[in-house]
Amino acid sequence: MSGPRPIVIAGNWKMHTTPADAGELARTIAHRIAEPDVVRVICPPYVCLAPVRDALAGTGIAVGAQNIHHELAGAYTGEVSAPMLAGLATWVILGHSERRRDAGETDELIARKLGRALEVGLRPILCVGEQLVERDTGQAAAVVEDQLRGALTGHEPEDLVRGGLVIAYEPVWAIGTGRNATGADAAVMADSIRGTLHELGLPEHGETVPVLYGGSCTAANIGEFMNEASIDGALDGGASLKPDEMAGIVGRAGVTARARRGGGAFREAASR
Ligand code: 13P
Repeated sequence: MSGPRPIVIAGNWKMHTTPADAGELARTIAHRIAEPDVVRVICPPYVCLAPVRDALAGTGIAVGAQNIHHELAGAYTGEVSAPMLAGLATWVILGHSERRRDAGETDELIARKLGRALEVGLRPILCVGEQLVERDTGQAAAVVEDQLRGALTGHEPEDLVRGGLVIAYEPVWAIGTGRNATGADAAVMADSIRGTLHELGLPEHGETVPVLYGGSCTAANIGEFMNEASIDGALDGGASLKPDEMAGIVGRAGVTARARRGGGAFREAASR
């Protein structure tokens, strides 16, 4: 691998904020996360993309959408396609568990969305993660492997890497519950994810693909994840709407970004 993987902190605002207040929140957060060593992405609702884009102009912070349709255009009332996001977003979250749950998104559908993202040059954050019962019965790694194979099979491995694929491991039981996975458990899953990427034939054994953790990640626990060599950042929900939380999370991520660049000191003792 040519160098350390980038450290990425992405905020998923989910169904929060309005066009009237999103720009101001984005500006406030941007001032608190001026940390160029970390790749930073804010993903507001569709209707807030334009004000957030304007607020973040010149900050180096990217804008992402939370979903796209699997077709480019057509009779799909209420949907938004990948080409419609031109000029509004450069990243997109795909396969979030809330969409798998509420919109019935299957791995096959997510695979098609991923293809659309790659076609138009939107950088995909593909979400995977197991349910609590699946973890409790020892199936977590197998479930996530199935999700990865379902979404990635059919795409050229080179295209996935060229398109900047990022994987977010988000155990469903940890999302919005205040109960986070341990850093060690998340690292086991990240290693397992890379094993699948390798089996799917991604260039450089999938080692260049960032794997993020998501699920009740906060400024208080981000260090536990950043201390794990196989975890490259976080996808935050609730914390991403709070400037103080984001400042702590991105600040801690920056410590790891510099340490890894400085020669692979993955377990920096500072700022635990
Ligand atoms: P929380 O950080 O609110 O648990 O949400 C995580 C998430 O779903 C990010 O996509």
